[in-house]
Amino acid sequence: MSYYKIENLEQYFKHYNKSVREPRKFWGKIAEENFTWYQQWDKVVEFNMAEADIKWFTEAKLNITKNCIDRHLNKRGEKTAIIFEPNNPDESALHISYNQLHQKVCKMANVLREQGIKKGDRVCIYLPMIPELAISVLACARIGAIHSVIFAGFSASAVANRIIDSECKMVITSDGGYRGNKTIELKSIIDESLEKCPSVETVLVVKRTNNTVEMKEDRDIWLQPLLDEASDNCVAEIMDAEDPLFILYTSGSTGKPKGMVHTTAGYMVHTAYTFKNVFNYEENDVFWCTADIGWITGHSYILYGPLLNGATTVIFEGVPSYPDFSRFWQTIEKHKITQFYTAPTAIRALAKENLEYVSKYELKSLKVVGSVGEPINEEAWHWFNDHVGAKKCPVVDTWWQTETGGIMIAPIAFVTPTKPTYATLPLPGIQPVLMDEKRIEIEGNQVVGSLCIKFPWPGIARTIWGDHQRYKDTYFAAYPGKFFTGDGALRDEVGYYRITGRVDDVVIVSGHNLGTAPIEDAINEHPAVAESAIVGFPHDVKGNALYGYVILKESGEIRNKENLFKEINQHISDHVGPIAKLDKIQFVSGLPKTRSGKIMRRILRKIAAGDYANFGDMSTLLNPEIIDEIVKESK
Ligand code: WT7
Repeated sequence: MSYYKIENLEQYFKHYNKSVREPRKFWGKIAEENFTWYQQWDKVVEFNMAEADIKWFTEAKLNITKNCIDRHLNKRGEKTAIIFEPNNPDESALHISYNQLHQKVCKMANVLREQGIKKGDRVCIYLPMIPELAISVLACARIGAIHSVIFAGFSASAVANRIIDSECKMVITSDGGYRGNKTIELKSIIDESLEKCPSVETVLVVKRTNNTVEMKEDRDIWLQPLLDEASDNCVAEIMDAEDPLFILYTSGSTGKPKGMVHTTAGYMVHTAYTFKNVFNYEENDVFWCTADIGWITGHSYILYGPLLNGATTVIFEGVPSYPDFSRFWQTIEKHKITQFYTAPTAIRALAKENLEYVSKYELKSLKVVGSVGEPINEEAWHWFNDHVGAKKCPVVDTWWQTETGGIMIAPIAFVTPTKPTYATLPLPGIQPVLMDEKRIEIEGNQVVGSLCIKFPWPGIARTIWGDHQRYKDTYFAAYPGKFFTGDGALRDEVGYYRITGRVDDVVIVSGHNLGTAPIEDAINEHPAVAESAIVGFPHDVKGNALYGYVILKESGEIRNKENLFKEINQHISDHVGPIAKLDKIQFVSGLPKTRSGKIMRRILRKIAAGDYANFGDMSTLLNPEIIDEIVKESK
């Protein structure tokens, strides 16, 4: 019996039970039957949750690009691996076959080797959504270099922090990028960030916009001439199952971003398996995930998951609103997309526009539509289901995280009955539990609690780069023996999960995971600011928006609040990136703090949401009187 594909609900339960009773047999069989290995594993999984020490497929040897590309060449060499849909719809789309992808990745990998990059070296990739981004990622994996993709919306100092943290030897960037009617100047951002990054020896520069850029001697090299000279024959590095494949940064509860480390074999098995099942992937499908490769969604479901299955995957350079709000729908029709995977924030924004943008396009190629990144509200779910999926495509609301590597809780298309706003059931191999305030597991249904996972799964991040202690403290300390997700959830009467949102200091804005700490740090660097606290408040398009409570140094006279607001947002933009700007700001004379000095965000969140009814237990507050003042001035 094969476990790779789940055909119906009965089989789902069978596979699920097997995966819980005999996880080693379950994952071992999937790994054995669906991938190419140089050497088999010794143990399927070994772990010690107390030490946050998890290993999958120990001693196995493989190269993930052999699995993503080479093994498809016989059967699918001429099949399109990647469709590149440019920002400007008048520029023609590019179809890259598996043969061509192989050639491009091998050439790029040889360039990296010639530039001195070896197995284990870190390479920072700071590129717009163009084919070179995918090719660079895969080229790193080919030679065992660890890729660290940084989303091209991050500012110079955010980029610098990430490069410094992982000591990258090389940066791959471009002369610029297109996003809607804007161009982004990636190279000059890199130039600025590299002033602080001594580890970087080489910068490879892709031509995209033909912007004039400065090329620093002995450091910056145009990529194309190197590719022209490179051989297209590249022997893949033999990797250990647990060798790091990539680092991807996510925000945390301190100002320092967490470099989540994903390793090779487990991540491969998890992303391939979940892609195949959740989206009901079949051979001739054309899969489109609208995320950026700079986020985990893009890593797992634009690149690795689809390519591991020999799929055709779309890389979209643009934005949903350019040239107009029909771009998504037009693109679905154009490429006959079969699975469309996007974010609630995009759905809400597009649902606000005239329905004609959608209805004038033929979306009948679609068979599955998916959502990821934040809870999808009832209205958005129905709009997506009615107008995009035409009520015939299952809506797969997929819950997972950068840390989990791949999808964890989600309907399996055509298998799991969907329910609006519910991520539904855990995939086989995933064992979620809800925990109460006393850290006790809540049994039974119709309950709410903090979402933990009680058994390791193959795609789990193994550590935080350079800081295993922080990994342990963040994910394994709150609920001993379990992985804590940071999310709250409810389990309904049939065992379906609904994710209710973060229970920690992270706010999800337009699907972007923003830690409040780095934003507060950026605000506090403004010379007029003494202290600040950031919380999220409900926003009808972004899901959450940011509300900042700011204490100024000289309280009393505030120069010009409007200007100050702008300056503070500029500070955030410079330090974190434009995605983290505040929607609202309130200047206050103090912040509610506990005796141990912790800001009580719970109350600030309520005030920001305009909910003044019940602030709950305030007995641990040092300065309860400040609440009245903040409430009064917020109205
Ligand atoms: C956080 C992880 C997973 C890739 C994109 C985000 C929230 C994600 C859902 C969903 C409700 C969701 C959670 C999670 N989230 N998907 N379907 N329903 N919430 O990755 O940046 O690591 O953020 O996004 O709060 O913890 P990320």
